Amino acid sequence: MKHTKVKALLSGSKVNTEVNAKGWVRTFRNNQFIALNDGSTIHNIQCVVDFENTPEETLKRITTSASVSVTGTLVESKGAGQKYEIQVSKLEILGDSDAETYPIQLRNKPSLEFLREKAHLRVRTNAFGAIMRVRSVLAHAVHTYFQEKGFVYVNTPVITGADAEGAGEMFQVTSLPLDNPPRTEDGNIDYKKDFFGKHTNLTVSGQLEGETFAMALGQIYTFGPTFRAENSNTSRHLAEFWMIEPEVAFNDLDDNMDLAEDFIQYVIKYTMDKCQDDLKFLEGRLLEEEKSKPQADRSEMALLEKLNFVLENNFKRVSYTEAIDILRDSTPNKKKKFQYIINEWGADLQSEHERYLVEKHFKCPVILFDYPANIKAFYMRLNEDGKTVRAMDILFPGIGEIVGGSQREERYDVLVEKMKALGIDEEELWWYLDTRRFGSAVHSGFGLGFERLVLFVTGMTNIRDVIPFPRTPQNAEF
Ligand code: 4AD
Ligand code: MG
Repeated sequence: MKHTKVKALLSGSKVNTEVNAKGWVRTFRNNQFIALNDGSTIHNIQCVVDFENTPEETLKRITTSASVSVTGTLVESKGAGQKYEIQVSKLEILGDSDAETYPIQLRNKPSLEFLREKAHLRVRTNAFGAIMRVRSVLAHAVHTYFQEKGFVYVNTPVITGADAEGAGEMFQVTSLPLDNPPRTEDGNIDYKKDFFGKHTNLTVSGQLEGETFAMALGQIYTFGPTFRAENSNTSRHLAEFWMIEPEVAFNDLDDNMDLAEDFIQYVIKYTMDKCQDDLKFLEGRLLEEEKSKPQADRSEMALLEKLNFVLENNFKRVSYTEAIDILRDSTPNKKKKFQYIINEWGADLQSEHERYLVEKHFKCPVILFDYPANIKAFYMRLNEDGKTVRAMDILFPGIGEIVGGSQREERYDVLVEKMKALGIDEEELWWYLDTRRFGSAVHSGFGLGFERLVLFVTGMTNIRDVIPFPRTPQNAEF
């Protein structure tokens, strides 16, 4: 008999028939009740073992995380706590799990930190099962949104010779022997002898390649892994993360903001509709976690309330200049509570400032725009004032920056001048400049950090807990 997924069994459609289920034991209680989970849902199916007619040897092997196959009748349960259960007539242990050495003992309430070291097994817990299902549905929502709007999905290269953000925080890709690389006559490493005949890196963003496609296909999006060698050991940064980057020809910055807001609201709504049970569980988890925090650090809203709030309220659009005024006059700035005091226009905003604006001042998602040119990337369009660029960052409560984007500099001369001033190699980016030589047009795009979105939707607080196998400084296990 083919096995039926627990999710389908719990829907009740097969009640009073013989069924087979396969999964992993979560708990085994009173030598009789197996809580079986197969990953299809947060819920377990209760399997009632006829212990009097089951050999003691077999009962002993029903341990946490053992994989089992149970066959029996699906019936309405008389016990509290579940609607249906399987009255087991045949039980088969598929794979044993030694109770002494299985590392995750749920009754000891393992910490998230502990579970990170067991990333290959943590997905067998309720919380991580829920997070990973939500992540998967969010990814589907991303594709559904763009595909329904006629965007073309573009796979930009992972290995690249370009530094899109000009921040220089890249992982080098090479096949040269590091202990004895070939040298040029003047003693430098000879990258002509490297695999690609040049210096290459893992991409920090697919934007520049994406722009070339937008200038032909009109509206495109990327969704792929990106890499940053920034040594920031925070709860918001990964060295390997997934980014979604739409790019749209003929969109100005206002259109770009409209797109970002509509997109974020769509994917959250989509996921709330499809992941009700998982989100309800994660809401409870968050409430539990927050009990241990001082009142002032707890969220004002429960998870689902917070998600609904984002759906029902427009994001507040505020210029950088207005934001600086607000920050300069704020209590934490005056009382020198910020680590970085805001004194003048031009200061780069730190996450403490972003979070103040979102969480204390506006109390809603905020889109900051028109930043000083010199704290933003070279490709952003210069405003008429000559000192700000058409940049936008979207800031979210509890997250800080979730989106970074801009209207792009479409004027060839202005772009080249900017690159010269910043020392960006024109020859390296000849192909990018071609888009401004041949049929240039106003265009805009943004990048959304997928894990930051998953953080927000799941109510988790550390980015290491929303990606299967996190890559962070000093950590590339698994
Ligand atoms: O603001 P960023 O650096 O923008 C870009 O890369 C542009 N090329 C995007 C574009 O316009 N097409 O990164 C975009 C987003 C950030 O807002 C943040 O959500 C996320 O990517 N991000 C990270 N997420 C996790 N770990 C990191 N180290 C991240 N760095 C950026
Ligand atoms: Mg940014």
